[in-house]
Amino acid sequence: MSNIVLKNISHAYAKEKVLDQVNFSIEEGELLTLLGPSGCGKTTILRIIAGFIIPDEGTVANGEKDITAWTPESRNMGIVFQNYALFPNMSVRDNIAYGLKIRKKDKTSIRDKCEQYMELTGLLEYQNRKVNELSGGQQQRVAIARALAIEPQMLLLDEPMSNLDVSLRTKMREEIRAIQKKTGITTLFITHDQQEALSISDRVAVMQKGRILKMGTPKEIYDDPGQDFVADFVGTSNHIGGAVLESLLGRRIADSVSVCVRPEQIQLSRDKGNGILVTVKEVKFMGMYFEYTVVSAQKEEYRIVEINLGKMYHEWHVNDTAYMTVDNIGDMVGGYE
Ligand SMILES: Nc1ncnc2c1ncn2[C@@H]1O[C@H](COP(=O)(O)OP(=O)(O)O)[C@@H](O)[C@H]1O
Ligand SMILES: [Mg+2]
Repeated sequence: MSNIVLKNISHAYAKEKVLDQVNFSIEEGELLTLLGPSGCGKTTILRIIAGFIIPDEGTVANGEKDITAWTPESRNMGIVFQNYALFPNMSVRDNIAYGLKIRKKDKTSIRDKCEQYMELTGLLEYQNRKVNELSGGQQQRVAIARALAIEPQMLLLDEPMSNLDVSLRTKMREEIRAIQKKTGITTLFITHDQQEALSISDRVAVMQKGRILKMGTPKEIYDDPGQDFVADFVGTSNHIGGAVLESLLGRRIADSVSVCVRPEQIQLSRDKGNGILVTVKEVKFMGMYFEYTVVSAQKEEYRIVEINLGKMYHEWHVNDTAYMTVDNIGDMVGGYE
């Protein structure tokens, strides 16, 4: 195994440019996620890596080798599609064996590989069931086992959770991560769901309109998003500038300076301190936390979340007035000035 490097990749369908100078590499053994809204070009990148599309411009390399023009078969990629593309009338075992049979492996190694990957994905007890007799989560495991059984160079997962309900999605993403760590397989994961991206990845690339805007570990992406699009797409953010920022800081600043502040970095208090006066406009109780929308005297709105500490917690109500402060606001501004 070795790393995959995409250099200056651009691509258009007909005349519509959908990828514009995409550059990144996937390191050996890592799970890298492409995160972005629908239509931003994620699947097109996957298809270029898999060899289904030759890009208009740029190169794909596998270590030192330029594989841009290689056929999909010669790249040996394990792919899980959004709809799994399983054979519904075939058994679990036969689905998993399929890629190995095509590659003309001998019977013993087909049987061994099937056993190995059914065990890894918890499918041994279902091996003789037909795929259309399985639940969504079980079908997903078959798709993953089938992709892994050929012992691919790399695993490519295109929104693999999109057919599952919310609670199953959370469980399956943990399973996928566990399988990926156990096998150490280099993985490209695609999603439009920021929670999924943050929780599963070694690194995340945030995309918009055919470009990669930001790349980093989940924590880097969340804590230091840089551009507004990244800050708003990965979590919720407040943009604080002007008079409100000056009052919080207690000093004058340049007009153009504004900072991006996460809802959990803002506090509400009954004491003035160096806070600014706000009115509570909306309260949402989310069980583990409260989500508040507050309005400043300048009519700017801010989103705030506070952990629910049970009876110890002072809860705010609509029309309450409070003083709003921001942790380390001075340090945040320091990064922009
Ligand atoms: N085969 C195709 N022919 C023409 N346009 C396409 C084709 N596939 C995708 N597109 C367009 O290219 C853009 C990127 O698509 P895609 O890579 O599938 O995005 P994503 O996976 O991020 O949703 C979209 O605007 C989509 O409509
Ligand atoms: Mg897609």
